[in-house]
Amino acid sequence: MHVEARKITIIIHFGFIAVLSSIKTPSANAVELVGSMALSGGHKDRELRVHESLDELSTDLADYIAELSEASVKERGVFAIALSGGSLIGLMGKLCEAPYNKTVDWAKWYIFWADERVVAKNHADSNYKLAKDRLLSKVPIIPSHVHSINDTVSAEEAADDYEFVIRQLVKSRVISVSDISDCPKFDLILLGMGPDGHVASLFPNHSALEEKDEWVTFITDSPKPPPERITFTLPVINSASNVAIVATGDSKAEAVHLAVDDVGSDSPSVPAGVAQPLKGKLVWFLDKAAASKLEGSQFSA
Ligand SMILES: *[C@@H]1O[C@H](CO)[C@@H](O)[C@H](O)[C@H]1NC(C)=O
Ligand SMILES: *[C@@H]1O[C@H](CO)[C@@H](O)[C@H](O)[C@H]1NC(C)=O
Ligand SMILES: *[C@@H]1O[C@H](CO)[C@@H](O)[C@H](O)[C@H]1NC(C)=O
Repeated sequence: MHVEARKITIIIHFGFIAVLSSIKTPSANAVELVGSMALSGGHKDRELRVHESLDELSTDLADYIAELSEASVKERGVFAIALSGGSLIGLMGKLCEAPYNKTVDWAKWYIFWADERVVAKNHADSNYKLAKDRLLSKVPIIPSHVHSINDTVSAEEAADDYEFVIRQLVKSRVISVSDISDCPKFDLILLGMGPDGHVASLFPNHSALEEKDEWVTFITDSPKPPPERITFTLPVINSASNVAIVATGDSKAEAVHLAVDDVGSDSPSVPAGVAQPLKGKLVWFLDKAAASKLEGSQFSA
């Protein structure tokens, strides 16, 4: 990290230790506020990174992905990463620029989608198309390493087929396997979050959230169009080595609060709040607006 610690404040935040550091990026000469939070002595490994600006957030996100890629390639020879759609892809844009476009070992990347809309690959709603246009076409990724859904079949068949593809790649160890479940262990699953707290295509109160047996399931009644989607299930998300949830803007603040704070059983639970790898690490990437409703927040405007 090309940052220099200026000041570190430690506060106790509902049993978590929050480390707030005001750090300076020499290149941009801009002060960035990063909140970092890890459970002391618990089994959960969770960190919150709150950024001053989207520019700082996207630099940190690119650094984070590049570091995980390097570590995974060193350890396993490959990097199995699952993407989602939405603003997340735009925020990954710095990976297409120097230095990342040269330093990342793109030939070792295997790309998957944590959720996908059941539409043609060239459709405006396709998460594949979004990632291809904004990211994958701009870096030297090997086309046969890009695993998108079969867009010519029904949602149910697409989910079954995608799970089958993942099973083959678990067998050949392109994707690692969890030692606590029989689930695939992705090196990194990147998730956005909706204002309703949904992650991947796991929506609040939807039965897909309860799916325990399948790795990939489907829905045909998404509250947000298009209605037909496939999605990784919670056991797969929670078996990953690393999960990152990226949320920005005021509209996400309430869901961030419900997902991150210890709100108790009277408040509605949101899917993002149960995305927590059992043995892996979770990192939240937030801007100040999305963090503004966190309890004891230092980030409210
Ligand atoms: C990397 O991105 C920079 C722009 O940031 C561009 O000038 C350069 O040509 C790119 N290099 C490669 C190898 O794509
Ligand atoms: C998609 O599914 C159809 C129907 O099973 C099959 O004919 C086709 O080969 C599949 N496409 C890909 C890319 O696997
Ligand atoms: C989910 O169900 C709970 C309890 O039935 C309800 O309070 C909540 O508003 C529902 N959430 C959504 C997003 O429908």
